[in-house]
Amino acid sequence: MSRYQIDPLNSTFGALVLGIDLSRPLDDSDASCLVGDLLKFRVLVVRDQILSHEDHIRVSRLFGEPEIHVQDQYTVPGFGQIVTISNIHRNGVPIGMYDGDNEQEWHTDLSWKPAMSAVSLLYSVIAPGVGGETRFADTTAAYDDLSAELRARVDGLNAVHSMVYLFERQAADNPVKVPLTETQRAQVPDVVHPLVRLHPQTGRRSLLLGDMILRGIVGVDEAESGQLLDQLHAHATAERYVYSHRWAVGDLVIWDNRATMHTASPCDHTRHQRLLYRTTVM
Ligand code: SIN
Repeated sequence: MSRYQIDPLNSTFGALVLGIDLSRPLDDSDASCLVGDLLKFRVLVVRDQILSHEDHIRVSRLFGEPEIHVQDQYTVPGFGQIVTISNIHRNGVPIGMYDGDNEQEWHTDLSWKPAMSAVSLLYSVIAPGVGGETRFADTTAAYDDLSAELRARVDGLNAVHSMVYLFERQAADNPVKVPLTETQRAQVPDVVHPLVRLHPQTGRRSLLLGDMILRGIVGVDEAESGQLLDQLHAHATAERYVYSHRWAVGDLVIWDNRATMHTASPCDHTRHQRLLYRTTVM
């Protein structure tokens, strides 16, 4: 039994965690409740937190070991596990990832790696007055609701996830997008993952999608693959499966990458700044 309160969001997933102070270590009981609640609700929203980078890493370790991020130009000095997400530009150069005014890319964090990520923790330091929400899709409920025919079609299919392809597509929309260096490109070869993912802890299945990172479905011709992926994305991002998080300073949102996907939303960087820090555990 936790000493904090958990209020489910009015959705198929997600919950608000109340009465918790993550700037101090949790006792064992609350720590294991928080891990269990994430498995149950898939997205946890914790408001009004004052977290140092050390706190952020400590809380992340409740879920696993935070990964050192490949795009080291965006990691916090001294904290290779914390990546800066921001639309702030200094001398014309973005200080963080997701810097464009029209950032929208449904994805699961680090799906371009051979080993898939488990959990991400995103902490808000500067929140925009307008725009810049993070939208989460419940890919678990979306899978459950597929017709038996569509389920039979997608179970067993694999898709190619490509960070290089993603960057090429994003650069076409965002002229100040900083390209991957040759070293970074060499670190991110294309990888293949199943289209339907089995959660190692809950045993539930979910759709593993990504509307810009997927080159296509293995062994399916380009037109058919594109049509099937479009159909699955449209289904999984229907309003009934989406929770849109409007950021306030001090919010920490924790999500299960093995059961959801998410996207940033448009934000005019000339009028509204956003600065967040993210860790991802494997
Ligand atoms: C992320 O994809 O981890 C960040 C999402 C956002 O910028 O809202």
